[in-house]
Amino acid sequence: MNGGEPEPHAAWLPPEAFRALGARRVLVHGDGPLVDTVFDEVVWACAGHGGQAWRTGVGAKSGDAPATGSPAPPATGSGPAADDPAVERPAVDDPVVERPMVGGPVDLVLALRGTEPVPPVVPVDATATPVGDDGPLGDEGFLLVRVDDVTVVLADAPAGLLYGLFELVRLGEAAFTGDRPAQPHRPALRRRMLDHWDNVAVHPVMGQVERGYAGGSIFWRDGVPHGDRDRLRAYGRLLASCGINAISVNNVNVGAVEARLLTDRLDDVAEIADLLRRYGVRVHLSVTFAAPVVLGGLPTADPLDDGVRDWWDATTRRVYARIPDFGGYVVKADSEGQPGPFTYGRDHADGANLLADALAPHGGVVHWRAFVYDHRQDWRDRTTDRARAAYDHFAPLDGRFADNVVLQVKYGPVDFQPREPVSPVIAAMPATRLAVELQVTQEYTGQQWHACYLAPWWSEVLGFRPWGPQERTVADVLADVPGPGPGRGGDLVAVSNVGDDPFWCGHPLAQANLYAFGRLAWDPGLEPGAILDEWIDLTFPAPTVGDPALVRETLHAVLDDSWRTYERYTAPLGVGFMVNPAGHYGPGVDGYEYSRWGTYHFADRDGVGVDRTRATGTGFAGQYPPPWSQVYESPERCPDELLLFFHHVPYSHVLHSGSTVIQHIYDTHFAGVQEVVAMRDRWRGLADVIDRAVYDRVAERLEEQLRCATEWRDQINTYFFRKSGVPDARGRRIH
Ligand code: GCU
Repeated sequence: MNGGEPEPHAAWLPPEAFRALGARRVLVHGDGPLVDTVFDEVVWACAGHGGQAWRTGVGAKSGDAPATGSPAPPATGSGPAADDPAVERPAVDDPVVERPMVGGPVDLVLALRGTEPVPPVVPVDATATPVGDDGPLGDEGFLLVRVDDVTVVLADAPAGLLYGLFELVRLGEAAFTGDRPAQPHRPALRRRMLDHWDNVAVHPVMGQVERGYAGGSIFWRDGVPHGDRDRLRAYGRLLASCGINAISVNNVNVGAVEARLLTDRLDDVAEIADLLRRYGVRVHLSVTFAAPVVLGGLPTADPLDDGVRDWWDATTRRVYARIPDFGGYVVKADSEGQPGPFTYGRDHADGANLLADALAPHGGVVHWRAFVYDHRQDWRDRTTDRARAAYDHFAPLDGRFADNVVLQVKYGPVDFQPREPVSPVIAAMPATRLAVELQVTQEYTGQQWHACYLAPWWSEVLGFRPWGPQERTVADVLADVPGPGPGRGGDLVAVSNVGDDPFWCGHPLAQANLYAFGRLAWDPGLEPGAILDEWIDLTFPAPTVGDPALVRETLHAVLDDSWRTYERYTAPLGVGFMVNPAGHYGPGVDGYEYSRWGTYHFADRDGVGVDRTRATGTGFAGQYPPPWSQVYESPERCPDELLLFFHHVPYSHVLHSGSTVIQHIYDTHFAGVQEVVAMRDRWRGLADVIDRAVYDRVAERLEEQLRCATEWRDQINTYFFRKSGVPDARGRRIH
């Protein structure tokens, strides 16, 4: 399918996952491109599993021709191809709603309510308003109900049908068993977005994908489009199936070649948009703030300059003329060397609003990143604290951002560490639309060589209550759940972990992170373990594996606690970093200690940690509202896992757990490695049970995880033993 390259793995959408749906008699009712997609999916599933498909409600006409047994599923299992001549749409000649369905009753109806009457095959009870919830379904919501042996998905907009379809896939046979009271499903967050840090041209240091651990880019290769349209279509399908509806297609660090995607290389972006639109995914673009200079030849990019405004207006108009549903711009400005409004003595509200004004007439948004800090800090300077920077820059600007600016804030105040407090910016900007940015790509969590299921971590972040136990969570803020004070709602965004590796994410188990991100963005209340079960059911359908119960138990044993395991064998108690600066993989305890990046641990012979208190430290703890400002200020009240993020304490400091800091360091590092041994051993039990290629790839990576975890353990333990001189209470070997 793609010039001799290996076929991509089906991820969580193997043909077998469509068996329950594809074995049914299915009617799809409604018009529009996304309904076409739904219908194509149904036709494909039915062709593979013996069902029948009908379509009604197309345009002024409707049809009743069954599409039974039309195409065989493509060998790749990557779903129906719109441009595949084998996928014939059934003829649509007769207004079927006026006469009974050919082929008798149906088992499943996916119907768009609204202009066209819902077909009479839908049981009357199924169209009743659900008790206690009569709110609109919105652009993406759907109603799922089963009565009189007919499963019905109703939506008011085509995307709702698409998401309803994939909900049925998730449910499998359960969607066609018994009765099911009407249940509305709506995404909690309106934009669920992945940012690709993909370069068009290969960057001399960062490569084709910055912080990418899954091969090259699926969009770009060596300066030109990658050209694998099937792969992109399959990608859109994976995204839609877990609820993701937006992506940006290039790195936030915008190079000279990438900058031109906005202008003379817009066709390359349009081509991606055309393929992903079929699955309800809108395309966004990372742009350079200096574009008026580097692309437009203007002498300035000053946001208050009229010529600059005109340039952005005209450029943006051209973008929308080419891509009418273009999502908007992503901007990293005044950050790590990228240009920004500071050059012109302007602030970030001036900068963001400039682009927002250009996008507003077309319905676009600008994701303006809050990752702004001094990346040339002198390590001797104890007054500057990188953790403070985003709040210091942005909190004073609250209320000044245009309505279509989304301020994109990393979940923690430093940089995607396996443990950080939740960013105080989230509570500090009630009059600003926010996006919380997660990192699905495992830059600091094992680079897709380590199995590290991140949903439990993201759940903690989303469930954090910045104003205290009775108040709203981070997810509530994003979902615009009403609460005290104004709120604007927002998005969940993550840096993608996808590349052109056959397994999409390098590590087959890292697919679970991609899936979980989409599901949490749709419903932040989902339990990480339940999401993992969904992913297991879809990825390893029972009929395709030797021992389904063993597969489920093993995957839970390997993944459930894997993020905490990773935390145990890496930097202790929230202090962060300690990674090898060359690539951020593996230990480098002092790797950043005397660097300009602002990520220090301050370990000496007496103690370790960063004093971020108001009383004696950088004052960062004071950026939180109470109660957290008080909790974090106090070494006694601060949660153990964040102790060294907020406090410099002696090695003898006793944690809530009862252990001293030094003993905790030893114990967790020994335990972490033991846990990786257990993960590896558990995995071996699947050797003859699952697909060999998946087994081998994971087995290989678990060996590397064990090697690397051992290195972490030994370097961290040795480092702190030498610093502190305190022996391990349990007498284990420290070097
Ligand atoms: C991290 C990462 C960089 C990236 C930056 C960002 O610092 O290492 O590669 O550019 O985050 O989020 O912009």
